[in-house]
Formats: sequence, C-alpha cells, structure tokens
Amino acid sequence: MVKQRKYKETVKQIKALVEDENEIIANLANISAILKQNFDSFSWCGFYIRKGKKLVLGPFQGKPACMKIEIGKGLCGKCAAEKRSIIAPDVSKFPGYISCDSKTRSEIVIPIIKKRKVKGVLDIDSRKLNAFNKDDEKYLTRLAALISKIW
Ligand code: SME
Repeated sequence: MVKQRKYKETVKQIKALVEDENEIIANLANISAILKQNFDSFSWCGFYIRKGKKLVLGPFQGKPACMKIEIGKGLCGKCAAEKRSIIAPDVSKFPGYISCDSKTRSEIVIPIIKKRKVKGVLDIDSRKLNAFNKDDEKYLTRLAALISKIW
C-alpha cells in the first residue's frame, strides 16, 4: 500500500515536471533522478534509447552501466524485441542476463512504445531479491505511457 501511494505521487510529480518541457534528454534525466530519490530499493534506474538495432545508454542514476545492448540480448534487449515488460525476480536465473553491477539481484524493464515502435527501455535494478511485482509493472507502465507522449 505504501509503495502504491509512493508510485501515485511519483507519477504525479513527474507529470507536473515534464508536461511543459519537450527536451527528451532533460526529461529522462529528471525522471531518473526522481525515481532514484523516491525509492530506496532502486539501486540503478534509467533509460536505454533505441538506435537502429541497438539500445544505447541514456540518462540514468546509479553506477556506470553497459553503453550498448543489442536488441534481443539481455533483459533490456529482450524487452525491446518483444515489446513487453519483463520482471527478473532473481537475475542469476535469467538466461543471457547482462550484468552491469554484481550486486544487482532483481530487475524490471518496461518498453517505451510510440506508434507501435520501441523508443527506449526503462530499466530499474535492485539489490534485493524479488523487489518487483505486478504493482511496480502497473505504475511503471503508466509512467512509460506518459513518457511516450512527450518523446
Ligand atoms: N541487466 C541489463 C543491462 C543493463 S543494467 O542492468 C543497467 C540487461 O540484462 O539487459
């Protein structure tokens, strides 16, 4: 319940911030900052931006991460290829997982889709096992829809 309220407030806060701003990089940077600031359980959060057959690291908060991921590879690449959110409750059990931080235990990825095309992926890591569930997916999907409107 606490988490749901936090998500609702976060989405509201982000909406107010990005509504009148059309610089996508600036918006993604602030969105990463707000997510990281509002959720203690997020060790890394940020965006991969689609460029042709690759995803390129975009604005994020957390440790330095892999800069390019092929569509179809890893959690982010699979999310982009299949245009669907994926939750890895235990990243060590995800085939082909790309590890950027050895301390990451679980992860969620949400595609940002505009006119049926993937613009990018929102990626969130946690150092806790099983940190993400359907509630996270629900609110982060709302956030992705909001982002696709301003992209
Ligand atoms: N683990 C991701 C790579 C990105 S980092 O977690 C920031 C993946 O498997 O695609």
